[in-house]
Amino acid sequence: MREILQVKGLVKNFSKKTAVAGVDFTISEGEFVGLLGPNGAGKTTTIKMLTGLLKPTEGEVIYYGRDFFRHARESKRFIGVVHQYSNLDRDLTAYENLYLHCILHGIPKIERDSKIKEALEFAGLTEYEDKEVKTFSGGMKRRLIIVRALLHEPKILYLDEPTVGLDPQIRRSLWDLIVKINQIKSMAILLTTHYIEEAERLCQRVMIINKGRIISSGSPEQLKKGVGRYVLEIFYDDHIEERFFSTRDEALEELRKCTLSCRIREITLEDVFLKLTGRRINV
Ligand SMILES: Nc1ncnc2c1ncn2[C@@H]1O[C@H](COP(=O)(O)OP(=O)(O)OP(=O)(O)O)[C@@H](O)[C@H]1O
Ligand SMILES: [Mg+2]
Repeated sequence: MREILQVKGLVKNFSKKTAVAGVDFTISEGEFVGLLGPNGAGKTTTIKMLTGLLKPTEGEVIYYGRDFFRHARESKRFIGVVHQYSNLDRDLTAYENLYLHCILHGIPKIERDSKIKEALEFAGLTEYEDKEVKTFSGGMKRRLIIVRALLHEPKILYLDEPTVGLDPQIRRSLWDLIVKINQIKSMAILLTTHYIEEAERLCQRVMIINKGRIISSGSPEQLKKGVGRYVLEIFYDDHIEERFFSTRDEALEELRKCTLSCRIREITLEDVFLKLTGRRINV
């Protein structure tokens, strides 16, 4: 697949604070990539540099072989973005919010209506077309924000923590929408999250970010295999010890020797993070 994006040695310093400390990766057409990391890891700062909201201190961002900052106007056509705190105009209808985006992105007048109708249908919001956004639930607003970012048909969609703060059922329905965008529209997606399950379920490739650095990258399966497939948890009074094994039999053998209460479970990306950094993603 053709490469959309190349990121080389990306750094962002805010006065004395280094938010992103040298990040390199590429994304190809149609790929679904996750940037998984705890609060303050540098996810939003990375997305802002890839979408032109922040200028990097160092490094290069290249879309289809051309430097982003030298060709910002053309490159922005390839980019759709839902920022962490993206919002809609509450007093406008769903249709009007999408219409504004069409104007901002120079979508020809003649194409606007059909694109908006298609986007509303894709989001399952057709019947709410003329309703003011202030009457929408949190999940409906998120759906609308996401399809708004697709109106100009970008090649890559950036989603910065798209399901944060939503209840599990709404989160699942948003996952369906996001997967549909990747599969039906063949759009590449870079999604940031600190939800382990979100990264494991959705992403073909996950980059784990901590303190501004990508500390590991691969498919969820590869990342997990690198640590071991099974975890033996040993419950002490004040903490839980985790030991990693490549087979259930090995874990069982250790479990039999255990005098404390313990159990075996399959490994998750949370364990991978713990093994790499010594702490948990979600504390
Ligand atoms: N404008 C700024 N000025 C100073 N420091 C900043 C600024 N923006 C971010 N930072 C710091 O840079 C680090 C990375 O922040 P960033 O928002 O990129 O993290 P994040 O991974 O998106 O976290 P979260 O999960 O909380 O959204 C944090 O320590 C943050 O406090
Ligand atoms: Mg963030």
